[in-house]
Amino acid sequence: MSETRKRILTGDRPTGKLHLGHYVGSLKNRVALQDEYECFFLIADLHTLTTRPEKEHIKELGSNIRDMVLDYLAVGIDPEKSVIYLQSAVQEVYELNLFFEMLVTVPRLSRLPSIKEMARAAKLGEAVPFGLLGYPVLQAADILLPKAHLVPVGKDNEAHVEITREIARRFNNLYGEVFPIPEVMIGEVPTLVGIDGQAKMSKSLNNAIFLSDDAKTVRKKVFQMYTDPNRIRADIPGRVEGNPVFIYHDIFNPNKEEVEDLKERYRKGKVGDVEVKEKLARALNAFLDPIRERREYFAGQKGLVEEILYSGTLRMREEARATMKEVRSAMGMASVWNRIRRKAEERRKRQEKEAAG
Ligand code: TRP
Repeated sequence: MSETRKRILTGDRPTGKLHLGHYVGSLKNRVALQDEYECFFLIADLHTLTTRPEKEHIKELGSNIRDMVLDYLAVGIDPEKSVIYLQSAVQEVYELNLFFEMLVTVPRLSRLPSIKEMARAAKLGEAVPFGLLGYPVLQAADILLPKAHLVPVGKDNEAHVEITREIARRFNNLYGEVFPIPEVMIGEVPTLVGIDGQAKMSKSLNNAIFLSDDAKTVRKKVFQMYTDPNRIRADIPGRVEGNPVFIYHDIFNPNKEEVEDLKERYRKGKVGDVEVKEKLARALNAFLDPIRERREYFAGQKGLVEEILYSGTLRMREEARATMKEVRSAMGMASVWNRIRRKAEERRKRQEKEAAG
């Protein structure tokens, strides 16, 4: 059967367990688009080396990779429909990355706030590694290796998809039409507020609810959540807009009537934080229950996660090989080596004949 569906490529760095921010920013889109698109989901382990090349970190990759695949499966990414693969096991991406490095300027990359932000988070100061500057270039290689048309990512990755588009256009201009110009797709909640009220939920900010948190942990985190700081007593009218507890209610509580009722009473100072939070904890746990259940199921099947990742990677290698053949041929790189090999082999044959005759 020949594939006519358009393609998706996206993925995550295996830095730990995925959280609600990942879900609303990107995972939800991925699950929803699995039938309409041919999907490739990568575990971007090479990208983690841009800020942490140390061996201690590399040693942790194995268990982080397993957690990430489990999170994918738990939210409903279906390995029968979609390819999940390990970036570092696909050799072609290293090569495409190098070719792409020639097609983007250093100032273009240096201006990106995301690079500065990653350097800051990793406490690197001014000592930005060459590879971290090249983070978006490697990402472009990921996206274009299977010739993806669509990239569902969180808001923080939007600029990297823009760089990818620029690189694809530049490549096509120089060497001929090889790559599609991929579109970015941002989730309906581009950035989810953290439980501490900070703009972004993030593992490193320690303000995340993880997809694999158990019900008790979720409840505890909800009761730690920031609400309206001016509302020091339950009978004081509160603000609903921008209030993390209500932002979460709007996203995760499917009972809209309950949410509207809570909002109305909150605005009038007629409901306590405890009730609002109790109902939020219940809604979140109802949302997470099936996710936890599927996670447990897959975690219990010995070797299954590895089998899924292994076959996905083998499948991706075929795609990668085909694209790189086309890339080298378009660039004329293939013929450089082919000519040398042909001449050398002809000479060897001549000499064999001479020696024999
Ligand atoms: N940059 C992504 C992150 O923030 C990970 C990633 C690497 C990625 N390569 C990608 C995302 C390609 C989408 C497409 O974790």
